[in-house]
Amino acid sequence: MRHSGLRQLSFAVVLTLGCAPGPAAFAASPAPAQGQNGMVVSAQHLASQVGVDILKSGGNAVDAAVAVGYALAVVHPAAGNLGGGGFMTIRLKDGTTTFLDFRERAPLASTGTMYLDADGNPVPGASTDGYLAVGVPGSVAGMEAARERYGTRAREELIAPAIRLASEGFVLEPGDIASFAEGNDMLAQDEAAAKIFLKDGKPLELGATLVQADLAKSLTAIAQGGADAFYKGGIADLIVRASEANGGILTREDFERYEVRELEPVKYSYRGYDIVSSPPPSSGGLVICEILNVLEGYPISYLGYGSAETVRLMVEAMRHAFVDRNTALGDPDFVDNPVGKLTSKAYAEEIRARIDPYRAGVSEALKPAGFGESKETTHYSIIDRDGNAVAVTYTLNGSFGIGKVAEGTGILLNNEMDDFTIKPGVPNLYGLVQGEANAIEPGKSPLSSMSPTIVSKDGEPFMVIGSPGGSRIITIMLSAIMNVVDHGMDLQEAIDAPRIHHQWLPDRVLMEPYALSPDTLRLLAGMGYRVGTDPDWTIWGEAAGILVGGRNLRQIAAGDGARYYGAIDSRATAGAAIGY
Ligand code: DON
Repeated sequence: MRHSGLRQLSFAVVLTLGCAPGPAAFAASPAPAQGQNGMVVSAQHLASQVGVDILKSGGNAVDAAVAVGYALAVVHPAAGNLGGGGFMTIRLKDGTTTFLDFRERAPLASTGTMYLDADGNPVPGASTDGYLAVGVPGSVAGMEAARERYGTRAREELIAPAIRLASEGFVLEPGDIASFAEGNDMLAQDEAAAKIFLKDGKPLELGATLVQADLAKSLTAIAQGGADAFYKGGIADLIVRASEANGGILTREDFERYEVRELEPVKYSYRGYDIVSSPPPSSGGLVICEILNVLEGYPISYLGYGSAETVRLMVEAMRHAFVDRNTALGDPDFVDNPVGKLTSKAYAEEIRARIDPYRAGVSEALKPAGFGESKETTHYSIIDRDGNAVAVTYTLNGSFGIGKVAEGTGILLNNEMDDFTIKPGVPNLYGLVQGEANAIEPGKSPLSSMSPTIVSKDGEPFMVIGSPGGSRIITIMLSAIMNVVDHGMDLQEAIDAPRIHHQWLPDRVLMEPYALSPDTLRLLAGMGYRVGTDPDWTIWGEAAGILVGGRNLRQIAAGDGARYYGAIDSRATAGAAIGY
């Protein structure tokens, strides 16, 4: 699905240059997709095509984002969803920016200790596995709010492709099969899910057609009745019924009270680029901002990609920023987030002054965190012919959420409640050790790391980017931005380049295999860094991005590039960047 012809082209370019390093050389990545009028990059190729079709028929980027959001719920059920939540960052052609928060909210009956046993210890699986783990879903309200406020097309038109994909089915390709591999065991345990996503109890096979009749019915009800069909109609009733029958606490009132929040995005600049990203209840925008503000004080481009010095500075900036993330941030309706401090260049200067130039910093010693289980979220990026740009990250949290479908709805439900602090000091699914600011309260959203981001330069859109990856979303985004801005990579190279991650606790640097050379590792070890790969986490996100005006900074400066370049992470199994 992914531009193999262009891969040869980039190979040819390198050969022409005799592999000499130089400003026009490209790394060993396929070339990004190109487009003059629009670009859609998502984690499932059929959903990307749905978005492009909407753009071609004259819909704007928000129309396309809504249609892709519904379509991914059908063709990428591990993360695309109606039963989860997420964020949408929008930059309109006139430069206006806004942010829609349609993240899950804690049910009204939730309590701060709901996942602890009588002795105050976390009950294994309680916040991840069953109906008690489900937050009130926001995706349908989010899609509808986006369409009503910023779209131009009728609801029926934007949902129609998803209904068709659900009712007629779609053929499973290797990427889809790979995505199901993570969920099959869990889905098999739920009768309603197994009926849809397995055949006679066995995993679906390559080339099989996946039809989702109940999901088509739910989508049709939403097409006809809007968000009310979900929140005030039969769909809410069916989800509440399933929840009540299976130890959950969701009520009809939870659904009726759900509201999308339209928030001011986090805004800051990095080396002259203007960045808008996710505000609380995401930590992502603020934490990436804090890290970039710290790094702005160092000559990263000169220090070089992957050098021990660059890695060290990135790690120290990450360490400091994740302390703030995990201790100070939470839902803005419940917590006074230190937004001014975390975005301030003076605060970054303070952090730089605390970074030891010779030795690794030391994170506070707390219970070491363990990673585990499968994870899935999805991000898509869209830009239209007018330059309206949309970045959406939405999720069920874990792959396929709780892996259960409310009977009759075809809708998989999230396990987003695990993003709350289940107990201060106890790591969650992503090993995050968090504090009271993110404690569970009725109606509150758990703190997220999702960071749909739009970068502009001199008043024009420059980059649209986001990724899944749990807490690693933050460092995935960081490296994509740095790789383009500091290291001059094209977007595909920037996204594909191996990654490093540090999140304060556990106090170790994680790297993807081959990310750092033995020499670099030796230098880092000499300074006291513990660096290693993570055997439990093989997929580091699936970034999806768009670069405007050229394949990389050099081409943008030369002015001889195409208009839009799209890149889907090589780590994504079924995705596609499609331009036109
Ligand atoms: O909101 C968050 O930060 C998480 N629930 C995101 C989960 C995620 O990215 C899983 N994907 N790999």
